[in-house]
Amino acid sequence: MDKDRFKGRVAVVTGGAMGIGGATAQRLASEGATVVIADLNETTAAANVKAITAAGGKASFVSCNVTSEEAVRSLMEGVVAQHGRIDILANVAGVTNKKASVDEMTLEEFRRVTTINIEGTFLCSKYAAKAMKQQKYGHIVNVSSTTSVMPTTYGNTAYTASKGAVSAMTRQWVLDLAEHGITVNAVAPGPTLTPLVAGLGEQMQKDRIRIIPSGRLGLPEDIAAAIAFLASDDASYVNGQVLVVDGGMTVVNHAAKR
Ligand SMILES: NC(=O)c1ccc[n+]([C@@H]2O[C@H](COP(=O)([O-])OP(=O)(O)OC[C@H]3O[C@@H](n4cnc5c(N)ncnc54)[C@H](O)[C@@H]3O)[C@@H](O)[C@H]2O)c1
Repeated sequence: MDKDRFKGRVAVVTGGAMGIGGATAQRLASEGATVVIADLNETTAAANVKAITAAGGKASFVSCNVTSEEAVRSLMEGVVAQHGRIDILANVAGVTNKKASVDEMTLEEFRRVTTINIEGTFLCSKYAAKAMKQQKYGHIVNVSSTTSVMPTTYGNTAYTASKGAVSAMTRQWVLDLAEHGITVNAVAPGPTLTPLVAGLGEQMQKDRIRIIPSGRLGLPEDIAAAIAFLASDDASYVNGQVLVVDGGMTVVNHAAKR
């Protein structure tokens, strides 16, 4: 941990109220960034701002639905008006789908999840990139998922599709933005112990741990550390990559024997 790694940097963290986004906001602030949390959950976001501030960090909260172009435009313009720049965008806001086999999943559910996860990532990047282009500097870090590499949950069509799109957009935007001094990377977390996963129940968590060589679920802090690396100048020559952070889950053949 370097308390000055992000000194003078301004970071927008979507979904920064709790879970992976909450830990990311804390990590970036603990290393000197001025953090703006953009989230729908005002109570939890306010609690995270309080925790960051109490620890000596700089954070504020803007209520923003990442699927609303008007709200996202206003968020990013507001950050530039108040702080002068946007150096880092962590696109963490996301939701999973209600589990249903492809023949049972409703179009409404497919659209709900893909709208938040794909369009939200697109809109936030679109308006942050406008500011980053002006200053010829920026790091965008998207949040994909191991499901885009190797599905491990039945009935996950909408979520898997959305995270595949996030990984693909990450690579596409390198072509659009690299010449402007902007890097675009993603993390692909495996099962991580956040409210989202805690809500799936104990048995589901045990089933996941069984297939993770590191022998535990990821913690939000594990993912936040990878996001912070990709958002830092230590990663200034890393571009278009999807960094899998999953305790080795996706690289092993689960039929392997000693
Ligand atoms: N937890 C996991 O196992 C896991 C694994 C792989 C990828 N991910 C991804 O990591 C990201 C964070 O997941 P998490 O587990 O921390 O989730 P979480 O539910 O704990 O937190 C998600 C946050 O996003 C916010 N949010 C949701 N919809 C929003 C919207 N439309 N506008 C603004 N904010 C919105 C929520 O209010 C919440 O604060 C998601 O993109 C998720 O798909 C999670």
